[in-house]
Amino acid sequence: MATHLPPQTAPANAEPGATPYGTLPPASPMASRKPISLPRLLEMHSRGEKITMLTAYDATFAAVADDAGVECILVGDSLGMVCQGLHSTVGVSLEHMRYHTESVSRGIRRAQGTAWMIADLPFGTYQESREQAFRSAAVLMHAGAHMIKLEGGGWTTEVVRFLVERGIPVCAHLGLTPQTVHALGGYRVQGKSDASAELLAREAHALQDAGASMLVLEMVPAQLSAKLTHELQHCATIGIGAGKGTAGQVLVLHDMLGVNLGKCPKFVRNFMEGSDSIRQAMQAYVAAVKDGSFPVDALHAW
Ligand code: KIV
Repeated sequence: MATHLPPQTAPANAEPGATPYGTLPPASPMASRKPISLPRLLEMHSRGEKITMLTAYDATFAAVADDAGVECILVGDSLGMVCQGLHSTVGVSLEHMRYHTESVSRGIRRAQGTAWMIADLPFGTYQESREQAFRSAAVLMHAGAHMIKLEGGGWTTEVVRFLVERGIPVCAHLGLTPQTVHALGGYRVQGKSDASAELLAREAHALQDAGASMLVLEMVPAQLSAKLTHELQHCATIGIGAGKGTAGQVLVLHDMLGVNLGKCPKFVRNFMEGSDSIRQAMQAYVAAVKDGSFPVDALHAW
């Protein structure tokens, strides 16, 4: 009996430029920049070119951010507050993070497909053991993340080493670590006293030595973050309320778009002011971080 094979043509709904395996279309031919990689980010840090990062939680905003030239997109567990209406990030689960990471990953691929994508390990998914951290990180990497972020210093050093040795790039997070807000007694500047600044610096160096290649510094005095940025040559610092001396900056998307009912933290600037569209606001943010006009230490830092 004759066998009729289907004709070897692309299905009518195939995306232009899709691979034969259909799952990972390459960066759009319209891409105006090379895909952002970890070596590229570290090279920007060593050259002194500022790195831009914004949070995103869904496909459309992630696509617009990628298209607007933002280099790093963080699926932050701030989605607990921004998307879910929680009072803190503590209630965010790994399943929530997986869902939003997948959505953002699809969005980036549908735009230029060039942004570097980081996803937060939520509270309770890495504190127990290095193995628990690896299992949780793998869920987010499977969902499309290029790097995971986790909060804290000291005990996290061994977790970071374990993940990095197993091929998972890690962004650490020191200063105000929102998952431990209850232990910290509120959203307060960290590293103000000599003793706490010394501890923070020791933890930052240990995290770099363990292989963390990025480090978010949140609500840390500008002078301390500038000093650490200079000292950490293999780990790019990303500031939020940490002054202009860091290797890059991050803001929560809804805050920088002014989509906010309460009082905004002093480190936020509303980039919708003077912009006609969300894309333009993101472009203004990228331009301001790159040319050093945002943040202004006297206004946005301590
Ligand atoms: O969850 C988040 O969005 C963050 C940023 C504020 C750095 O961790």
